[in-house]
Amino acid sequence: MKITNKDYYEQNVEKLLAKMSLTEKIGQLNQLETPKLDNLEEFKNKVREGKVGSILMSVGATAGNTEQGTIDVDFYNELQRIAVEESPCGIPMIFGRDVIHGHRTVFPIPLAMAASFNPELIEKAYSFIAKEASNESVHWTFTPMIDLCHDPRWGRIIEGPGEDPYVGAKFAEAVVKGVQGDDVSRKDKLLACAKHYVGYGASEGGRDYHRTEISDYSLFNNYLPAFRSAIKAGVKTVMSAFNDINGQPITSSKYYLTDILRNHLGFEGFVVSDYDAVCQLARQGVAESEADCCKMALNAGLDMDMHDSCYMDNLIKLVEDGIVDIGAVDDAIRHILRIKFQKGLFDNPYCQHTTIERSEHLKTAYEMACESMVLLKNDNQTLPIEKSQKIAVLGPFVHERRSLLGSWTIDGKAEETQTFFEELSSAVTGELRTSPFGEFGWNTTASTIEWADVIVLALGEEWSNTGESRCVSDITISAAQKELIKKAKASGKKVIGVFFCGRPIAMQGIAEDLDAVLYAWHCGSKTAAAACDILFGDIVPSGKLPVTIPRLATHIPLYYNVTSSGRPVNSYYGEHTGACYIDSVAAPYYPFGYGLSYTEFEYSKPSLSSKQISITDLKNGQKVKISVNVRNVGNYDAKETVQLYIHDPVATMMRPLRELKAFKKVFIPSGQSKTVEFEIGFEDLGYYLSNGKYIVEKGVIEILVGSDCLTNNEMLFNIL
Ligand code: NOJ
Repeated sequence: MKITNKDYYEQNVEKLLAKMSLTEKIGQLNQLETPKLDNLEEFKNKVREGKVGSILMSVGATAGNTEQGTIDVDFYNELQRIAVEESPCGIPMIFGRDVIHGHRTVFPIPLAMAASFNPELIEKAYSFIAKEASNESVHWTFTPMIDLCHDPRWGRIIEGPGEDPYVGAKFAEAVVKGVQGDDVSRKDKLLACAKHYVGYGASEGGRDYHRTEISDYSLFNNYLPAFRSAIKAGVKTVMSAFNDINGQPITSSKYYLTDILRNHLGFEGFVVSDYDAVCQLARQGVAESEADCCKMALNAGLDMDMHDSCYMDNLIKLVEDGIVDIGAVDDAIRHILRIKFQKGLFDNPYCQHTTIERSEHLKTAYEMACESMVLLKNDNQTLPIEKSQKIAVLGPFVHERRSLLGSWTIDGKAEETQTFFEELSSAVTGELRTSPFGEFGWNTTASTIEWADVIVLALGEEWSNTGESRCVSDITISAAQKELIKKAKASGKKVIGVFFCGRPIAMQGIAEDLDAVLYAWHCGSKTAAAACDILFGDIVPSGKLPVTIPRLATHIPLYYNVTSSGRPVNSYYGEHTGACYIDSVAAPYYPFGYGLSYTEFEYSKPSLSSKQISITDLKNGQKVKISVNVRNVGNYDAKETVQLYIHDPVATMMRPLRELKAFKKVFIPSGQSKTVEFEIGFEDLGYYLSNGKYIVEKGVIEILVGSDCLTNNEMLFNIL
């Protein structure tokens, strides 16, 4: 009989389990953070005793906000040597780090990458990220972060793919494939971790770590699809989220961690808690003691405890006293050991560091940045601008380096990142001037504005305004930046705003005074180069918004896949968008899927392979083919993201007015057209009921194909 890898691993796991002492068993469930020098010896002893299954290669509760220092490969190899050679069973440790959107080469923040609508490029980016990080002792990265988010006040919106379940699912798949590849045991691959399971992006009021209220209907249709997709793509680990849902902390919830994650979604890897989350169960008010926290988390299905040592300090006694069943502990260990075998840690526990050639990585970071930036406004073809003009570049981000990299940049180096000014200087053939930003610079700013032919404003928010525990109550830019816009506008010259931001900024009162708006995000190592090349027309912008840009922060939550109310008021679509508030118009400033180009595209009516199909045929795998002709009628060769939405107008449950079901980013030379084809089938045409049952129902489906979610380019289709 053929012995498969799986059987081989299973046999080895069982052999190891049979040899392990209870202390070593619990040790496998224990993840500690990188020791400081003053507790190094104590830490080494723990490793020697088999009490450390994994190391979190950072320090502190919010690692993305603080300097972490560079990785010393010899240091980690030495710790690993102790585990392998001196601990009783010689089980290698697994080293995890937050390599979120880049290692030394920094790619755009994930929200920006989602704006590229280019999963192939995202996958490629993450394969380079894995290559760089694995060369520096990392086995495991805590990405993809796939928290659907409707609230841009939440600082962590930058880490995820935005507001849409379908974009989230595509992003999850691309990241997992890029990070893990086909064979995760390869030296240049990492284990991925889908996080934060689940619903963390719905933290009430956009306040980090807060409670969430998510119905099962929304859970299955909105919050789970990205996790389903990550699991389908083979993600090896999942991180449980800090939040509770409807009063149930995820960390201690058997419903979320076992019933849904393992039984419903079919996850087979291991679950790690978030930082200190096991002990925090007491603060969440569901446990009386650390022992309780530990028992609840383990019994719920949480395998590895990040940082707080709650398992290490309590589980031995709980097992010895018969309060926790050793079977549950063994299952958690099995989950972890299997992944250690799959990663090849037993065969290759050490990192063999080599010098990596990064030119291809930087090239891809540049491409990714170019495709992620979104042109939101371009009145009278303000952009692109001539390089030969007198250009004034003003604002707080003219000389900025660090913010361009974005939050959760642990290994990228600000000093290797070009500023916007440096990039513009090397590109212009005319003259470029700037002046200091703020109060003391107003005089020179006024004369620079006076001098210029065209004014470029480098606006935005600092990286440290975004990320974990960095929520804001207003999503705006500083008063001084608004003043600068007013002054520039008063000159009567063309004013271009380039926004270096992590999150959507409420644009009312800002964008009106700008002739052009380029949303450049925090796009990593090549932010400045990409923004500069777009301004001058060397690159044609092609990003689309993965998240709505509201007019005012008070309109949050505002997202495209809303259901219809019973009265003719509507916050997003159509003629009644103004009827929601009596004091402001709640329609989005820029809707989901929106983004301009330097060219224009004309869409034909979509045509369908058939006007109807039966549920049985759909179940048997038949698909509906939809094709649309897209013509580039402008003067630039360019890429367009063609988006396909559906709307089910009559269903058992209320369905969203639009749901993105497919997209394709295509390159169309000027004057040419392309026929873009989609196929949608059983998995696309139905939805989940609150009990997790997926259904496709009879009736009419509206199919809409266009360049953003407001498209009315519609065909009707019947499910029989
Ligand atoms: C807490 C964050 O929520 C999580 O995303 C991160 O991976 C861990 N800390 C480790 O740094």
